[in-house]
Amino acid sequence: MLDKIELIKSEASSEFALIKDEKSLEDFRLKFLSRNGILNSLFEEFKEVSKESKGKVGKTLNELKIYLHKIYDERKESLESSSGKNTDSADISLPGLKYNKGTKHLINTALDEILNIFGRIGFSIYESDEIEDEYHNFDALNTPDYHPSRDMQDTFYIDSKGKDKQYLLRTHTSPGQIRVMENNTPPIRVIVPGKVYRNEAISARSLAFFHQFEVLYVDKNVTFRELKGTLNYFAKEFFGEQLKTRLRPSFFPFTEPSAEFDVECFLCKSKGCRVCKYTGWLEIGGAGMVDPNVFKIIGYDPEIYSGYAFGMGLERTLMIKYGIPDIRLFFENDVRFLKQF
Ligand code: PHE
Repeated sequence: MLDKIELIKSEASSEFALIKDEKSLEDFRLKFLSRNGILNSLFEEFKEVSKESKGKVGKTLNELKIYLHKIYDERKESLESSSGKNTDSADISLPGLKYNKGTKHLINTALDEILNIFGRIGFSIYESDEIEDEYHNFDALNTPDYHPSRDMQDTFYIDSKGKDKQYLLRTHTSPGQIRVMENNTPPIRVIVPGKVYRNEAISARSLAFFHQFEVLYVDKNVTFRELKGTLNYFAKEFFGEQLKTRLRPSFFPFTEPSAEFDVECFLCKSKGCRVCKYTGWLEIGGAGMVDPNVFKIIGYDPEIYSGYAFGMGLERTLMIKYGIPDIRLFFENDVRFLKQF
């Protein structure tokens, strides 16, 4: 029996030397170490060994067992690491991992551009809070209690129990006008960019939040003509070509007179198409001369000062500029969309 063990050990050693892949390693395991393998059959034979020899044979057999398991385990590990299963090893000849570089979101790129367009003609940036009180969002903007925009259906009110004021999510950037005027004296030339909230059903045309930018100019002798000139300047700089513009009479509680600002439909050049609903025009914002009542509320003398203000929806402007059909695309963060800008 001792000779047999010795023989098997040398057979195992020479077969072991030939192991070069997982398949030959598995063959080795099946032959020597599996349930029906040689090692187990030796242990079967061992049961028949005479009492006197049991000690010596048992010891040699155990040594063989330890030896076979050890060489098997070692080779298994080295094969795994060279096949890359073991992460400790690295093949330095492989190309490196590519990192996906992030880019600025379209909204931010456009905001930068717009702030720049107005910066060039002397407007500075003023950031106002998204959480506003009723006074700045409505009252100071000459918006009476019964105005429909104050309705719960349009405005997200914030539970203000125990607070001194009723808070809400601003429904437009116009309260920024009030904040600027409260803290400064004319001449004032500011642009207020930011997010606004409205309780609207979500669709291709509206979300419960979007971005606006508000432009305010207050000084002595500011005229409607200057308002129109500034709007035209913006349209030309932003849309990059000479699009026709027009002002339509409208109403806002905080401007008088008020107007809606349209640009010529970029697609059909005013001929009429699906995008402009066959009107030839696309509305991009509201505008007007600051209402004297607003000046009175702030404490400016409307006999001395005048001013203009306008507010535009950023997503809407971008949808027009790039022909984006659905406002939801801005916030789904699908890189196939984002990468185009
Ligand atoms: N705040 C108005 C809106 O959200 C737009 C506007 C701004 C109109 C400034 C006139 C002057 O619809």
